[in-house]
Amino acid sequence: MIIGIPSESTDRETRIAMSPSVSKLLISKGFEVLIEKGAGLQSHFLDLEYESAGAKIVSKDEAYSADIIAKINPPNSKEIKLLKNGSVLISLMFAITNPDLIKNCATQGLSAFSLDAIPRTSLAQSMDVLSSQANLAGYKSVLLGGANMGKIFPMLMTSAGTIKPSTVVIFGAGVAGLQAIATAKRLGANVWVSDIRPETKEQVESLGGKFIEVEADDSIKTEGGYVKGVSDEFLKKQQQVVAEKLAIADLVITTALIPGKKAPLLISDQMLSNMKQGTVIVDMAVSQGGNCAGSELNKTVIKNGVKIIGEGNLPGTMPINASELFAKNIHNFLIHLTSENKFDWNMEDEITSGSLMVKEGEIIQDYLKEALSTQAV
Ligand code: NAI
Repeated sequence: MIIGIPSESTDRETRIAMSPSVSKLLISKGFEVLIEKGAGLQSHFLDLEYESAGAKIVSKDEAYSADIIAKINPPNSKEIKLLKNGSVLISLMFAITNPDLIKNCATQGLSAFSLDAIPRTSLAQSMDVLSSQANLAGYKSVLLGGANMGKIFPMLMTSAGTIKPSTVVIFGAGVAGLQAIATAKRLGANVWVSDIRPETKEQVESLGGKFIEVEADDSIKTEGGYVKGVSDEFLKKQQQVVAEKLAIADLVITTALIPGKKAPLLISDQMLSNMKQGTVIVDMAVSQGGNCAGSELNKTVIKNGVKIIGEGNLPGTMPINASELFAKNIHNFLIHLTSENKFDWNMEDEITSGSLMVKEGEIIQDYLKEALSTQAV
């Protein structure tokens, strides 16, 4: 099977879905790999390196005419017309919030796998791009925050006196949050963490973080490791408890997301006004509306002396590592989905049935069909 890797046209995207080393691996397993000319440049992968790995450098049209198209972001409405009927698209899709993309895939007669819908099971872990990218982003959020603070992280004893360690407050102990805790601890900070899933307390403490306890209530619904919903009342209680920690924080990292919904607002204007001058907030949920009042996508804003960083593509600030891990995830996914040079289409397999949105032009997920029918009304 021929895999095409077009360049990414999304604004501020520096990553690419395939690296030279993973191309080599796929080619050794019988795939052919076509890379659009120059598509790896922003990840610092040269055409020459792909060629040495055995891949072919081609035009955009040729890359899109392959049997399988692998991308980070989905193609836009113009690009999607370049895919041939019957080909297979693999990318992030966030289908429920992207109905036009799904309709376009169906109209074009494609099969479409959404990488963000791969179930969060042990077997699927090696294919999970959300985890691989969030892990890197969690690490970078601490460095980015640290570089913007007027302070250092660790305690430092000098002949001129002792510097106290900085206080870092992290909202959300998922993949990104746990990596942020580990990074901030390694750099010597005091780390406080809030999450609404009670099972995260143990994970936080095993990394040396301190858990900010809020009494849980029945409104917290979790499914497959994700928070599906939480009441306003719980959020209010949580705000009161964490406000005290926010007031002493030097760096705050917010990672709280609810799939398919706007991110919960965790830091209100009122809480911001009680924070110290010079505190830095890295709002990792900014692309989904943000966890912090006033955060702006891809901008840094200052409110009441607090710096709020809204970088929307943290993995894209480390494209070498991020692209390499993304490419490995794609490799593992393809090996799982195919055998003897064709797709298995095994709908009994939960990875296939969970991530396949459109099969040969037909939308197959009931929740998407339902969402699209209400949209049509
Ligand atoms: P996420 O990006 O959806 O959310 C990040 C964190 O924010 C979560 O821990 C969530 O509980 C927390 N959060 C949501 N609302 C909040 C609020 N109001 N206040 C404070 N925190 C709030 O989640 P992520 O990081 O993608 O994964 C969550 C969990 O899923 C992981 O910790 C793990 O248990 C599981 N998982 C399993 C995988 C596997 O087995 N393949 C792969 C990845 C995750």
